[in-house]
Order: sequence, then structure tokens, then C-alpha cells
Amino acid sequence: MVYLTRRERFNAAHKLYVADWSEEKNEAVFGKCANKNWHGHNYDLHVTVKGVPDPVTGYFINVKDLSAIIKEVIIDKLDHNNLNMDVDFIPTNMQATTENLCILIWQQLVPHIKGCQLHSVKLIETENIYAEYFGE
Ligand code: NI
Repeated sequence: MVYLTRRERFNAAHKLYVADWSEEKNEAVFGKCANKNWHGHNYDLHVTVKGVPDPVTGYFINVKDLSAIIKEVIIDKLDHNNLNMDVDFIPTNMQATTENLCILIWQQLVPHIKGCQLHSVKLIETENIYAEYFGE
């Protein structure tokens, strides 16, 4: 079994907050991500698939096809958008955290991956923080 990773990037705005909480409590829990006037991140998305290379092509998926899927299903919907308001697969009552985004991105991608298996979705929010999801 070989693991193959494609990286894509997007920029997006978000805000982490609970409407019922005070501004002070939101800031205490979410820090800068609670900024009421929004803020953005430059996200790095790593999608890893696993499979057995074909003896003729050496591929189990053409990475160009994988890139096209990620762009169509994920990047085109997230890039330069507001994660709290603009994305059809992010529920408005769900916090747009790196953790939740990993799960949602996995759910969007998995029906489109053919000929191999989705192994992980890793989303890097800052140089010091990332989340990974393995489907469970
Ligand atoms: Ni943030």
C-alpha cells in the first residue's frame, strides 16, 4: 500500500463565536478567531489517498485527476469565501474550526475517490496548528 498526498491551498475568512455568549467569553475561548469583524487564514490542505500502484502505469490514481476533484469539490467553494456564510457544505450552526473543516472536507471528497481509498485530510491553519482526520 502506498500513500499519495496532494496539497492544495485556499484563503478564507471565518469567525469562531457562540451567539449566546458575551464578547468576553467568546474571546476567552476562541482568542483572535473570535474577532467580531472577521479575519482570514491561508490554509494548506493535504489530501492523502492510499492504494496499490498499477503495474503498467505505476499509478493508482492520476494525481491530476485527484487535484481536479479537490479543486472542484473543495477549493472552488472555499477559496476567497467566508466559511461561516458562503459554503453550502458548512452548516451555519457549526463552528468553522480546522477540526470541523477536516471532517466536512472528508465527507465531500470521499464519494469522488475511485480506484483507491481516502486515507486522511490534513488542514493546516497556521504554521503552528493543523488538524488531521482519518474518517473515524
Ligand atoms: Ni481563525
